[in-house]
Amino acid sequence: MSKKISAFEKERLVIQTSRDAEKTQAERNRLGQFATPPALALDILKFAATLIPTKKNIKFLDPAIGTGAFYSALRSVFPQRRIVEALGIEIDEHYGTPSQHLWADSGLTLRLADFTRETASPEFDLIVCNPPYVRHHHLSLEEKIRLHRQTQKNSGMDISGLAGLYTYFLGLSHAWMAPGAVAGWLIPSEFMDVNYGRAVKHYLLDRVTLLHIHRFDPNDVQFADALVSSAIVWFRNAPPPPEHNVMFTFGGTQVKPNVTREIPTTILATESKWTRFPLSEDMVPDFGPTISDFFRITRGLATGDNSFFILTEDQVKAHDLPAEVLRPILPSPRYVYEDVIASDAKGNPLLERRLFLLDVRISTNEIKNRFPKLHAYLKTGKERGLEERYICKHRSPWYAQEKRPAPLIVCTYIGRGDSKRGNPFRFILNESCATVANSYLAMYPKQLLAAALAKNPGLIRSVWQALNKISVEQLVRQGRVYGGGLHKLEPKELANVDASELAKLIQGLEHSGIMKQMEIFEGKAGHQTVSNLTS
Ligand SMILES: C[S@@+](CC[C@H](N)C(=O)[O-])C[C@H]1O[C@@H](n2cnc3c(N)ncnc32)[C@H](O)[C@@H]1O
Repeated sequence: MSKKISAFEKERLVIQTSRDAEKTQAERNRLGQFATPPALALDILKFAATLIPTKKNIKFLDPAIGTGAFYSALRSVFPQRRIVEALGIEIDEHYGTPSQHLWADSGLTLRLADFTRETASPEFDLIVCNPPYVRHHHLSLEEKIRLHRQTQKNSGMDISGLAGLYTYFLGLSHAWMAPGAVAGWLIPSEFMDVNYGRAVKHYLLDRVTLLHIHRFDPNDVQFADALVSSAIVWFRNAPPPPEHNVMFTFGGTQVKPNVTREIPTTILATESKWTRFPLSEDMVPDFGPTISDFFRITRGLATGDNSFFILTEDQVKAHDLPAEVLRPILPSPRYVYEDVIASDAKGNPLLERRLFLLDVRISTNEIKNRFPKLHAYLKTGKERGLEERYICKHRSPWYAQEKRPAPLIVCTYIGRGDSKRGNPFRFILNESCATVANSYLAMYPKQLLAAALAKNPGLIRSVWQALNKISVEQLVRQGRVYGGGLHKLEPKELANVDASELAKLIQGLEHSGIMKQMEIFEGKAGHQTVSNLTS
């Protein structure tokens, strides 16, 4: 065949546009006739290529082929010699007939038929499908009974009568997959959260190996409106390993997502709303001690405007601000090279870059009377419109800062996986009285650890070392990855990180009270944690 795939694609788009135009919206709704945008089809097939061994030949199936967006993308991504068979099924001759002519002699067999009535043969290595989105109200009872029976036979799925046609397509196609075959389904993400999606989720967890779910960002306009609530679900026709992680991605494209996170199937099995991933902070923690058993974790201060509320020594001098309203604050992590922040006799950090937080806790009258220079400085803030900004506006008075004592340990929670130190997250021991802004997570000992530290203040060094020994993998597993390899840990995510080493360390100390609590802790059931026991 000499015709180039780009020429086919051009003709296909002409057919798609003209055939769409000849139908009303209602007609297209009836059979779920909304084609996949070419860029998305290409993105999906490029991703498929990452899941298939490079030398493997492919038998391809699209059970709802329309004009062949996926076949066209398949041909752009895979060399033709690797595609040993390609079958597309289309119910509607309005799209099917011109597509049959278009793809004649191209290597694609386009069958005009109802996929749900076709006899399955388990020979296909790659199934990619954007199935018709037809709501259950448009399926007759008779139709539902037939589909339910056949889907159960093909896949074991027990589909709810409230589920749309796409769930039956997914289940029916199981019997078309060769062992080890890969499938990618562009489907509404609603199945991830609603009750009638349960059968699909069970199938994905129990019958096959779920690999990856990508969801589009509703704020992202690059794909047509119809796709904003869609997900691409990838799985392999292989029994699931006893425990494995599934990649959840969000936003951007399938190949270049904005957020990436691995979620263990053990968590998916107990979570009813899968769309919480990858963004949710509330990952169920590992069964065992976690950092939240020992530390309360909050983000550092959101000052409202760091350029106004955080001042250098020179600025303090220039404005002649009183020491009474200033507190030392750590500079951003990029200016903190050491992992221990030593302090002078006054509690100021011994750092090259010394900064102060304007932390005013006296009334405006008192400021006016006692500190006219401070009054003048605050006035410049007002003139800059700070009072009206979101954070300041919600405080009273607008310049008041939240109370955030100096944390004993701070964690840098944004970083690149490829940073020189190999770990995007650092735990820094803060021996000074400096507080922190929100470029850090602030860690405060909870009762259990506080009691141990009260008896043995030197213990904090060992605690800090134990934190720094937590592997990058463990931290990254709880956190999330943004486009470009930026890793981030939210407070709850850090709280859920396994802290077995820390527990052993504290358990090793013979504080009888702590030992007792630890005994309960060892025998804890379900999600019980030390913090529950102590607080
Ligand atoms: C969402 S469109 C996707 C078309 C194409 N695969 C794409 O991605 O652009 C779904 C297609 O499935 C077809 N269809 C609907 N019910 C079908 C059925 N029972 N069997 C086969 N095709 C069906 C529709 O006519 C439509 O062309």
